[in-house]
Amino acid sequence: MKLWGGRFTKPTNQLVDEYTASISFDQKLWRQDIVGSSAHVAMLGKCGILSMDEVRQIIAGLKKVKEKIERKQVQFEIAHEDIHMNIEKLLIEEIGPLGGKLHTGRSRNDQVALDMHLYLREKLMEIIELTMYLQQALLEQAQNHLETVMPGYTHLQRAQPVLFGYHLMAYVSMLQRDLERMQDSFKRVNILPLGAGALAGTTFPIDRQFVASMLQFDGIYQNSMDAVSDRDFIVEFLSHASLLMTHLSRLCEELVIWSSQEFSFIELDDAFCTGSSIMPQKKNPDVAELVRGKTGRVYGNLIGMLTVLKGLPLAYNKDMQEDKEGMFDTVETLHGALALLTPMISTMQVKTEQMRKAVTQDFSNATDLADYLVTKQIPFRKAHEIVGNAVLYCIERHKYLLDLSLEEFREFSPLIDRDVYQALDIDTVVNARNVLGGTAKQQVEQQIQFYQEKGKENRAWVATHSQKVMVEALVDIKSPVV
Ligand code: ARG
Repeated sequence: MKLWGGRFTKPTNQLVDEYTASISFDQKLWRQDIVGSSAHVAMLGKCGILSMDEVRQIIAGLKKVKEKIERKQVQFEIAHEDIHMNIEKLLIEEIGPLGGKLHTGRSRNDQVALDMHLYLREKLMEIIELTMYLQQALLEQAQNHLETVMPGYTHLQRAQPVLFGYHLMAYVSMLQRDLERMQDSFKRVNILPLGAGALAGTTFPIDRQFVASMLQFDGIYQNSMDAVSDRDFIVEFLSHASLLMTHLSRLCEELVIWSSQEFSFIELDDAFCTGSSIMPQKKNPDVAELVRGKTGRVYGNLIGMLTVLKGLPLAYNKDMQEDKEGMFDTVETLHGALALLTPMISTMQVKTEQMRKAVTQDFSNATDLADYLVTKQIPFRKAHEIVGNAVLYCIERHKYLLDLSLEEFREFSPLIDRDVYQALDIDTVVNARNVLGGTAKQQVEQQIQFYQEKGKENRAWVATHSQKVMVEALVDIKSPVV
């Protein structure tokens, strides 16, 4: 007999059971479901809706169910559709018909919303911490490379030389934005939907504030129709996850390019590479490629969720059950990517000689020759043209700018002096960009300092929020009234 079977005259078609059940994937929410139910029933006791004795028995029953699930002594059933009804069934098996009082003043609509909020706030915290570790690994590598010069690119053509530490700090900055976005979205995840009922509130004199403080929520949905219809918090997470994956994917693309024989700027540690079944010489950057590849599924999960929601009338619709798999998948994909990239970055070998060699065999100091002419009062546009001619002259003769004699330089402008050699020297070129945000060593040191401060702020944020997500501890909640 189904928990909702009273109105039906025959059993559901087996295919319908299979098609509509979510237990195969929403069993991930079992802990959240039990925590939520424990808080709910404690509140029913506090408000005099259930007797204290009933509350004690139900909470003890939920605890037994929890222990059985932990010991893998229960089998979830498709016939009971989802995690919520499976647990309610298990409770009734445990303590008898009294278990049927658990669902007083509650609907699966606010219950499932609660479980999703509890789950996501915990995962959000884990992902924030993993992102902080990766950010730290990048920052430490940047500190090691404050003198490592490499070509900076635009259009993947050599543009101007930069410090490798500077290049890495760009990723540190991106991850900081990701962190701030996720911290901000925590505010909207940590809002309590329970107490909304099916859509209109409940006739019982419940105390939502009591449940909110028991479960460490920072606020309560003010409109119950919104509470059960809202999946914005999931869309936000999927959107922030997509942008984070974009950043990881761009980093991975660079790791792949840099570790190619053509570039040979870095070597990834053997522990993070794989070989080929046919070509014995191969060492492939599979992890980086897979992170890049898995970015697609994270985008897909975002678009899937947005599409599910766009045509839905208020309030709950069964379509919303589709909010789960994409979210779980995104959480797992982020976990895998962040956990692997951190040690990959820390153990990466940087071939500083190769990088430097690359910048001495190109024209990435051409802008500096133009800037040099500007200091001799030549308008920049004219200087640009002069240097363009000089570059063409060099290309035709298989030379670089620093190979030109002073006489050759003076063919292009008589204002050029012997100090041009110093001005075009690679280290001069890098350190000349000594303005806020520039690639000069002094500036990169300041950037590192800036993000070390941000790192402290991130850690402080985690410290003040992490006790809110400890669902494990809340499972054994000792309510003030029980
Ligand atoms: N398994 C459902 C879901 O994940 C739970 C809510 C069901 N509510 C309902 N009215 N059928 O969305």
